Amino acid sequence: MNIPAHQISMTVLMSPDMANFSGNVHGGAVLKLLDQVAYACAARYSGCYAVTLSVDQVTFLQPIHVGELVTFLASVNYTGNSSMEVGIKVVAEEIRTQVVRHVNSCFFTMVAVDEARKPTAVPQLSPSTPDERRRWAAALLRKELRKEQAARFEQVRLEAAGQATG
Ligand SMILES: CC(C)(COP(=O)(O)OP(=O)(O)OC[C@H]1O[C@@H](n2cnc3c(N)ncnc32)[C@H](O)[C@@H]1OP(=O)(O)O)[C@@H](O)C(=O)NCCC(=O)NCCS
Repeated sequence: MNIPAHQISMTVLMSPDMANFSGNVHGGAVLKLLDQVAYACAARYSGCYAVTLSVDQVTFLQPIHVGELVTFLASVNYTGNSSMEVGIKVVAEEIRTQVVRHVNSCFFTMVAVDEARKPTAVPQLSPSTPDERRRWAAALLRKELRKEQAARFEQVRLEAAGQATG
């Protein structure tokens, strides 16, 4: 197998212990696997231990069923100094029919840390294919939007605090 160092793939059989009350796979079980895949992708790429800083845009497009094979396709989309955005596409395959569905995509921001758990620099990603350049640009846009959102929420908080005291 020839998978670049910034990409990883993991396939898991959905077992009955992952089911929720409706009999489909529990969202929390998928989130746990997503976090593991994001960690594996970031740690393998950077060669460092990595922690999860944030996760966004987790949208469950369709339910996942017990008995399906779920594959997580992860890629480092963007690198900052110590941070990395890992994008994960999740596809579910019904084993008998081999019908494959795209069930989820999401984005994790992981930070590489050293032995003292302090952020440490990661190798810079050099996007070389059109897909990699598109993912880099989209990750950069998400980073800017996250920053703008945080600033706007802070503004609302400050305004509310000002009204409460004033
Ligand atoms: C991730 C962590 C190590 C960052 O620590 P920090 O003191 O903020 O470190 P820095 O200021 O050097 O930031 C490190 C990187 O995180 C980014 N970052 C930190 N806080 C951020 C925030 N609120 N929003 C966006 N990015 C942020 C910085 O931009 C920086 O990225 P860069 O190096 O690529 O430029 C720290 O927040 C942490 O330990 N968080 C808990 C992680 C964890 O335990 N996750 C599992 C939860 S169950």
